[in-house]
Amino acid sequence: MQIINSILCMQALAIAPEREGRRIVLVPTMGFLHEGHASLLREGRRRGDVLVLSIFVNPIQFGKNEDLDRYPRDMERDCQIADACGVDIVFTPTVAEMYPRGFQTGVTVRDIALPLCGASRPGHFDGVATVVTKLFNIVRPDVALFGNKDYQQLAVIRRMTADLNLPVEIVGMPIVREADGLAMSSRNAYLSPGERQSALCLVRAIKRARELFASGEHSVAVLMRETRAVIEQEPAAVIDYVEFRDGAMLNELEVADSSTLLALAVKIGQTRLIDNTVLGEEL
Ligand code: PAF
Repeated sequence: MQIINSILCMQALAIAPEREGRRIVLVPTMGFLHEGHASLLREGRRRGDVLVLSIFVNPIQFGKNEDLDRYPRDMERDCQIADACGVDIVFTPTVAEMYPRGFQTGVTVRDIALPLCGASRPGHFDGVATVVTKLFNIVRPDVALFGNKDYQQLAVIRRMTADLNLPVEIVGMPIVREADGLAMSSRNAYLSPGERQSALCLVRAIKRARELFASGEHSVAVLMRETRAVIEQEPAAVIDYVEFRDGAMLNELEVADSSTLLALAVKIGQTRLIDNTVLGEEL
């Protein structure tokens, strides 16, 4: 496994596989890998010849009062996980090289990036779309894998890839959950043991909504009220948003169907967690 910091080196390494018709697979991450990332890497290994893991904590997707400075990092452990998953290249560029002095260009995806996390975290998806475009241009993957936990991120990246005719197949992978149902996230590392318990209100809320939907309740107003009520029972939880949206365009709805997305963002103490489910799909 090679560890590459330089953009030029990474670009040079991508030339031979491209010329020889070997498929490059990219798993973009911000590091502090967990089983969710490992599942992307294992699937990536299956789908191509050269597996590239990028690790880059992207400053331009964090807002002013967000957790950029304390975002968890552990390069040694990440490399062990990468190696065990069959990664060929870990690409971990510096901020100075990704965003040199004078950098001025950004990629903006419009409507689909505006609600949900786009509303709570202004500019976040511009940062994501810009760095993913750069990573695609540097690594030149045939396939890139992302987790469904960041449902809106995946929708934004799919839209951007189609709109800009980027020759990359985008693959979304199921959310990986802990045994008790908490969606895996690098940010779970921030939670104290008490907060870790409180965080289970997200999955309880999702299960409640799914049960109601399965028993025939399709009114979004009712589903919304009941889902919020589960989270509001948890004293440590502060709702950022609870939204039922159409799973394709993320438009608002009055009546839910099996393709409806329930998306949640909830603060537990200082930690903002997100989770989601599509009502007609398996949890
Ligand atoms: O999902 C993430 O870890 C990041 O948003 C991504 C896609 C690597 C872009 O920085």
